Amino acid sequence: MRLSASLFWAATTAVQGVAAYWMEEVAHQGKAPYHADPDYQVFRNVKDFGAVGDGVTDDTAAINEAISAGQRCAPQECKQSTTSPAVVYFPSGTYLVSGSIIDYYYTQLIGDPTDRPVIKASADFPTDTTVGVIDGNRYGADGLAWIAVNVFFRQVQNFIIDTTAISASANAIGIHWPSSQATALSNVEFRLSSAAGTQHVGVLMEEGSGGLLNDLTFRGGLVGAKLGNQQYTARNLQFFGCETAISQLWNWGWTYKSLHVEDCGVGIDVLDNNTASITILDSQFTRVDQAIKTKRDGDKTTPKASGSLVLENVSFDTVGAILTGPNGVVIPGDSAGEALIEGFADGHLYNYTGPNVYVGDDRKYFPALPLCLTVTSTMKSPSPPMAIGDGTEDATAILNKFFAHVAGTDKVAFIDAGYYVITDTVTIPAGVRVVGEALASVLLGTGPVFSDIENPVPVIRVGKPGDKGRVEWSDMIVSTRGATAGAKLIEWNLNSSGEPSGMWDVHVRVGGFAGTELQLAQCPKTPTETNVVNEDCIAAYISLHVTKSAGGLYNENCWVWVADHDIEDPDYAQITIFAGRGILVESETGRIFISGSGSEHHVLYHPTPATVPFPPVAALQDPDFATSCRDVPDDVPCAMAWGLRVIGSKDIVIFGAGLYSFFNNYSTDCCQPTSGTECQQRIFEVVGSSLTTYNLNTIGTVRMVTRHGKDIAFARDNTAGFVDTIAVYYNA
Ligand SMILES: *[C@@H]1O[C@H](CO)[C@@H](O)[C@H](O)[C@H]1NC(C)=O
Ligand SMILES: *[C@@H]1O[C@H](CO)[C@@H](O)[C@H](O)[C@H]1NC(C)=O
Ligand SMILES: *[C@@H]1O[C@H](CO)[C@@H](O)[C@H](O)[C@H]1NC(C)=O
Ligand SMILES: *[C@@H]1O[C@H](CO)[C@@H](O)[C@H](O)[C@H]1NC(C)=O
Ligand SMILES: *[C@@H]1O[C@H](CO)[C@@H](O)[C@H](O)[C@H]1NC(C)=O
Repeated sequence: MRLSASLFWAATTAVQGVAAYWMEEVAHQGKAPYHADPDYQVFRNVKDFGAVGDGVTDDTAAINEAISAGQRCAPQECKQSTTSPAVVYFPSGTYLVSGSIIDYYYTQLIGDPTDRPVIKASADFPTDTTVGVIDGNRYGADGLAWIAVNVFFRQVQNFIIDTTAISASANAIGIHWPSSQATALSNVEFRLSSAAGTQHVGVLMEEGSGGLLNDLTFRGGLVGAKLGNQQYTARNLQFFGCETAISQLWNWGWTYKSLHVEDCGVGIDVLDNNTASITILDSQFTRVDQAIKTKRDGDKTTPKASGSLVLENVSFDTVGAILTGPNGVVIPGDSAGEALIEGFADGHLYNYTGPNVYVGDDRKYFPALPLCLTVTSTMKSPSPPMAIGDGTEDATAILNKFFAHVAGTDKVAFIDAGYYVITDTVTIPAGVRVVGEALASVLLGTGPVFSDIENPVPVIRVGKPGDKGRVEWSDMIVSTRGATAGAKLIEWNLNSSGEPSGMWDVHVRVGGFAGTELQLAQCPKTPTETNVVNEDCIAAYISLHVTKSAGGLYNENCWVWVADHDIEDPDYAQITIFAGRGILVESETGRIFISGSGSEHHVLYHPTPATVPFPPVAALQDPDFATSCRDVPDDVPCAMAWGLRVIGSKDIVIFGAGLYSFFNNYSTDCCQPTSGTECQQRIFEVVGSSLTTYNLNTIGTVRMVTRHGKDIAFARDNTAGFVDTIAVYYNA
């Protein structure tokens, strides 16, 4: 649970403090039923393992023991596993460490948010260019412990990391974090040396496919954050007195929201043409020599669309140069006053009359944004915990009773780690705050109620149609077990006017892990067969349905994933799971915000074969490939799921989208630089809607934008390296 406020357009923060943080006091009964040891401990308080936290005692060994105790998925030894999750909790105090805190797979490192614990590196901490005080993915002889793009389900929250005792000239690093989906660093402050010649770095992230960074503060150092990753959402990052705030190593799409850079030499330094796109929203640069350094050089840029930059509502106060390019200053600053850029895009710009690219920079195409939205999360005392997550007992009735019981009270519905078997709809009514543990509170829909592909039934329903009120929901997994072709995993009906509802780190994960009976043994890939469906592997009808009656929802860092590989398999074996639809939003009232979230591998909304086994349902606006593919050449497959469709909608704004098609027939040959973009013909459809898309990045797709059956933008015109990028697609 993220205690700090979550916010979007408007910037306010309200932390609801409580005297003793509930996580410390509550009886922890979390279970890991698929672990070999029946007494396996999910929750660990570092003080129970001998950590002292007095700033004097060396706590390195005790903290690492708290993380590694019990049979767990250790770096270099274990490739991946969901069966040994852990929450490692740090009460407030100062923990002196003389070596890295070594993170394990599926681990949540959580400090007391009411008085964040300080992790203080000792003067003799052994530094290296890749070693973090917290090391999220440690290097060994064979490189990173885990393939960075397969590091999922982990968090580091509520810490102060202090490297100031380490010599300024040493390569101190606060957190080393090559991580991917369903991961978060949040509410962490980095205190780095400001002495002359400092080499300190707050965050080093050189690879991955994330993810969320939020509420991070960096003080001092050579570089606050060195960031390279496929895509990321970074919200409320603040930098004070760093020589360079952000060194952008590479990316496909990176969105900075509410960035604050103060008293720094350089704000964002784009190192080279491996950065495809950056979007900066609602941000401030104050007393900065050079706010943004780009490598983009108009139509001389190679690859031609790389370095795409979008700014919206960004202020520059006492800034030497706002934008500097390879040939010097592009947008000068005002070294004595303030300049506000309401909207600016540099890259490939399209409107709906295309294909008609405009290469350059422009300040049009920035219409007034839709209504503001502010979400604050409050957390008072937890409910009595539930201890029925053993993966066998039917939890349907007790969960329904439990949520009804806490609705409207000041209690938080705390769901211990465990596997909760659900055989009929569980309703989360208005007025409930739900929080899970260790990203290992798994709600598993199963059985005949969820098995009819013609009659879908929600596993979790948030409000009934027509209900009003609010729900806050965080840190949980919703899934299915066995054949469940009629399972609607989450149906969101609640209409929250005023303050919206919130979902934080609530992931849909379909198949591919212990307890689902949808693993390698049951659902191996079938490359030599076309359109063959194993009925036992049809596992979801729709993953997240925001219905017509819903309104006012903030969804952050929620990963909707149909497993394409078995996460318990050391060889990452591919599997075939059929789930119909990913995220369907039909809200009539609107104010739906989806931030740092993603959806992958649904049959109708993602790769092959899109035509089986789900019959298209017109009422759900399912795609009709027979019609849409009629006039498209057959050199590249067309009846492949759309990544994004916007139909009959208005005031849609998209910042930093990544629509990727990597595979055909279980192989990535179709998206390699040698083969070009040949995985599918189209990926993004607009029908009868007004929308603006800023920094759209696609992979493996011939046509990037299709409106009313006409292709507006082609990948071949917009290469930005591995991705194809357009800065603006504007559709009034
Ligand atoms: C513009 O950004 C500032 C932060 O720099 C923020 O306070 C303000 O709310 C933003 N304006 C809008 C309309 O979102
Ligand atoms: C990136 O830029 C360098 C020159 O700085 C150029 O040699 C290289 O080809 C470019 N990369 C791509 C993929 O175009
Ligand atoms: C669309 O873009 C083209 C190319 O930049 C431009 O000539 C045209 O005026 C634009 N049309 C509208 C309606 O914005
Ligand atoms: C898919 O790949 C397999 C090899 O892995 C091959 O035997 C099969 O013919 C391919 N199918 C299609 C439809 O290309
Ligand atoms: C949702 O609530 C708002 C505010 O009360 C109301 O204007 C709107 O009509 C409601 N939406 C639906 C679909 O009932």
